[in-house]
Amino acid sequence: MAEKKSTVKSVKKTTTKAKTTTKRTSKIPAIKVVEKKKIVFLGSEAAPFIATGGLADVLGSLPKALARNKNLDVSVIIPLYGSINPEFRSKFKFLTNFNVSVSWRLQYCGVFFYEHEGVKFYFIDNEFYFKREGNIYGFYDDGERFAFFSRAALDTIARLDIYPDVLHCNDWQTAASIIYLKGMYYGDENFRKIKSVFTIHNIEYQGIFPMDTYGDLFGFPESIRNFVEFNDCVNLMKGAMEMTDLLTTVSPTYAEEIKNPFFAHHLEGIVNRNSSKLHGILNGIDIDYYNPEKDKYLFSNYSVKDLSGKAVCKAELQKMLGLPVREDVPVIAIISRLVSHKGLDLVKAVLETLLVDDVQVVILGKGETYYENYFMDVANRYNGKCATIIAYNQDLSRKIYSGADLFLMPSKMEPCGLSQMIASRYATVPIVRETGGLNDSIKSYDGENGNGFTFHDYNAHDMLYVINSAIRTFKDKTAWKDVQNRAMTTDFSWNGLASKYEDLYDK
Ligand code: GLC
Repeated sequence: MAEKKSTVKSVKKTTTKAKTTTKRTSKIPAIKVVEKKKIVFLGSEAAPFIATGGLADVLGSLPKALARNKNLDVSVIIPLYGSINPEFRSKFKFLTNFNVSVSWRLQYCGVFFYEHEGVKFYFIDNEFYFKREGNIYGFYDDGERFAFFSRAALDTIARLDIYPDVLHCNDWQTAASIIYLKGMYYGDENFRKIKSVFTIHNIEYQGIFPMDTYGDLFGFPESIRNFVEFNDCVNLMKGAMEMTDLLTTVSPTYAEEIKNPFFAHHLEGIVNRNSSKLHGILNGIDIDYYNPEKDKYLFSNYSVKDLSGKAVCKAELQKMLGLPVREDVPVIAIISRLVSHKGLDLVKAVLETLLVDDVQVVILGKGETYYENYFMDVANRYNGKCATIIAYNQDLSRKIYSGADLFLMPSKMEPCGLSQMIASRYATVPIVRETGGLNDSIKSYDGENGNGFTFHDYNAHDMLYVINSAIRTFKDKTAWKDVQNRAMTTDFSWNGLASKYEDLYDK
């Protein structure tokens, strides 16, 4: 059970105007007891337990940053997947079990607990839903799995009596929790008092299901049909956007972009209608986790004061990937899911033109077969100039972040993007398109200001032009040192950003 903690914030002396019978009582100070504000995050993945994308990084690092504030009590609830990191799994403590309604189904729910870096993590156990081979998403019954999780999370809050002040849900997988909270659980005063925040990490994935799941699977009441229905389907993200108290997304630019059809995947009307409660807050990264001075994956560690270790990282990376070991040639890296919105069509359009020059290109990622085959093919034909690795690999990604010179991220859409921040931390200078969080984190280098290279239009030759100017800067030792230094010293930590969420919670 969660213990109820309270902090004594201020001790005021009473000024007694009324006559008191004894002197003693008038001196007893009035103690103002300030309860910690409780925040519960819900999400479908959180580092270091289970990670497939940026969402896990955020749910691993933002709660940790908030928990440093002694006035906040921060918890995270995620599913207990079979593939959770075994290093941690054995340390989880079983707390309780009960049954959860998924419409007419009554399903087992176990709850496990583990405290990590000041954050309380609760894991929802149901082996049928979450102990599966392979990926954690992409099953025919994802709607049912996350309907279960969304209700189980609320029922866990009630069972353990950990009612928060703020329930902070993330992406479509936990959108139903907000719909249940506001549309079904409000009869219970403990739930009625909870304020909700819904964060959109990517508006492309909305949790859309056929209308016959409305009652039969989600068990939503008729009274909220208008909120949840969209284009004759159940749309969980839309429902949460309409019903939540506050709505956020992961960068200020993306908050503006999703008001337009090009970015909104049909939800622009809903975004505009709810824009008064929409806030864009840029993500940060965990700078202890991504730290070139200590990172154990690196061939050699280095710091902003002494970059000599980075030269070792570059040489070892080149050796490992079968590229000529040359310090004078720029290594341009792409680490990405190999999917269209990452801007890979731009890369495809000019990669072979670029490879005519004296450059080395390294690609690491997994995704659509179309791109995997293309990048493998180019690596075969440009042996010694281009290396492609089809994988999602933490160790290798760190070796590339540290060993490359330039990091290419030409996304068509990018709600925030963390890779450009990670690359910067390792003194690998980003080249990005000015969209979403890329626009908010990287500014073009003009010889005096800026921490990377940027281009505006979604145009392959604009991108190539900027890559070439980045290569020219690379060859100018003084300018290169300057831009590398600017990239590396940009503060991408949560330090200043977490307080923006605190301000929101205070609302
Ligand atoms: C999603 C977005 C990405 C963002 C991440 C964390 O994966 O596509 O841009 O950085 O969520 O918020």
